[in-house]
Amino acid sequence: MLPLFSSFNLKGIPVKNRVIMPPMVCFGYAGDDGFVTRRNLHHYRERAEGGAGIIVTEAACIRKEGRTANSQLGIWSDDHIEGLSHIPEIVKSYGAVSLIQLHHAGLIAPESVTEQPVAPSLNPNYPNARSLTVEEIHGLRDDFIRAAVRAQQAGFDGVQLHGAHGYLLSQFASTFYNRREDDYGTILKNRMRLACEIIDGIREACGESMLLTYRMGANSPTLADGIAIAHLLEQKPIDMLDVSHGGSMVTLPRPPKGFDYNWICYSGTVIRQEVGIPVGVVNEIRTPERANYLIENNLADFVNLGRPILADPHWVSKAQHHEEMIVACLNCRPRCKWYTDSAHCPALQIRMKKELY
Ligand SMILES: Cc1cc2nc3c(=O)[nH]c(=O)nc-3n(C[C@H](O)[C@H](O)[C@H](O)COP(=O)(O)O)c2cc1C
Repeated sequence: MLPLFSSFNLKGIPVKNRVIMPPMVCFGYAGDDGFVTRRNLHHYRERAEGGAGIIVTEAACIRKEGRTANSQLGIWSDDHIEGLSHIPEIVKSYGAVSLIQLHHAGLIAPESVTEQPVAPSLNPNYPNARSLTVEEIHGLRDDFIRAAVRAQQAGFDGVQLHGAHGYLLSQFASTFYNRREDDYGTILKNRMRLACEIIDGIREACGESMLLTYRMGANSPTLADGIAIAHLLEQKPIDMLDVSHGGSMVTLPRPPKGFDYNWICYSGTVIRQEVGIPVGVVNEIRTPERANYLIENNLADFVNLGRPILADPHWVSKAQHHEEMIVACLNCRPRCKWYTDSAHCPALQIRMKKELY
């Protein structure tokens, strides 16, 4: 058996293989109220059936005005719990571990969501945004914790905090966005204070057994900052680091010559060597061979396959059992069609044609 398909003991919870389906918002599936729809459930059923060891449900917003899109899932109200509960029910019925990502867009919440986004500090590129008071930061912290409690009540095995991609928590982490001069700005410990308070609060409210993972930005804004963030986070009661990018594309780490993965995935492998907790890597991994190489060579504990699993929900089982060809993601440019309308994903068209014959 390939190492990619070996099991992993994640804090006593068995994970059947090393593949994570990372969080990916299904734009247009939910309505403005953020309630889970039948389309969402069908989406997760197909992909849970497809064999990933961990399925991280797409970014669910802890506040309505913190969304990144109007069709994002909500977890800002107790009313969301019932609808959300069907996702872990389905995912777990296929033997996968079920997490949900908790999110707030901060500075980059679009105008369609809020007229005045909130941010760690003022930013000339976002003239409508205002900076948060300390009292408001505490309110956001408490909302993240409340959202985690809802996730637990809904039956998820755990939550992933969205600390990457230039959203609220990565805005706080990075000197690129955070120009505060109080206890939530300047030195690293202060910039990570909100994330750490959320982590401690979730542990206290949800207990030891719930999984808690953190998606961080490796370049925050440099890889050296990312490594420092990883060292700080490994001291906290989290169970896995998932390493993606930090949103700002100003300083990009360079993989060494001959390392055939992009800088985001490379950064994850660097951080994996630095910390003593499990690490998941991501971005353009794409094929079973490339995914397996990372696990086999101890460069990662888990690999995230995002667009490949959007393109072919059964990517993992096909890779494992070689029964059928994987329908590959065609790497649409300038952007993946799932950001606008998943029905236009060319891989979906190929799958539908295959089913007709
Ligand atoms: C349509 C779409 C939605 C996404 N939504 C999220 C999200 O909700 N949270 C997140 O952390 N990343 C999100 N991502 C990023 C993916 O999780 C992943 O990091 C990215 O697609 C790179 O991995 P890949 O090359 O395997 O696709 C999204 C990506 C896509 C294509």
